[in-house]
Amino acid sequence: MKIGIGSDHAGYRLKEELKKHLRKEGYDVLDFGSKSNKSTDYPQYGLKVAEAVGKKEVERGILVCGTGLGMAIVANKVKGVRAACCNDLFSARLSRLHNDANVLTLGGRILAFEFAQEIVTLWLETPFSRGKHSRRINQIKGMEKERFI
Ligand code: RB5
Repeated sequence: MKIGIGSDHAGYRLKEELKKHLRKEGYDVLDFGSKSNKSTDYPQYGLKVAEAVGKKEVERGILVCGTGLGMAIVANKVKGVRAACCNDLFSARLSRLHNDANVLTLGGRILAFEFAQEIVTLWLETPFSRGKHSRRINQIKGMEKERFI
């Protein structure tokens, strides 16, 4: 699976640790920056990863800022992106089962690496449960068609 990863300064360290871990696990990880923990702006990196997901250049995106919140707000501006901020395991599992989330956002100032790693593994391995949830996702896709360019 090809994964796009990105962060701002507050998520940089966790992003680097997750990138290393995911590559070790055999994932093809494309890093969209940032390249250091020097202060920067999360919308720049969030947009790059979200656009790669929207254009299907990568299958999934992982974004890390201080809380995961700013990255989720940005990523959800992009058509085709369903970003979920999941700083716990239950949300991570449900974001896949019910929401077919294709971008995961995490809080680098909230999560220890070991716990973030568990969240990411669960999120990557949990399938979309389809059924009635497909109808709801299709409603979202319909809204995107009607209201966005
Ligand atoms: C940066 O200080 C912080 O605001 C950012 O990383 C993020 O948490 C925004 O949602």
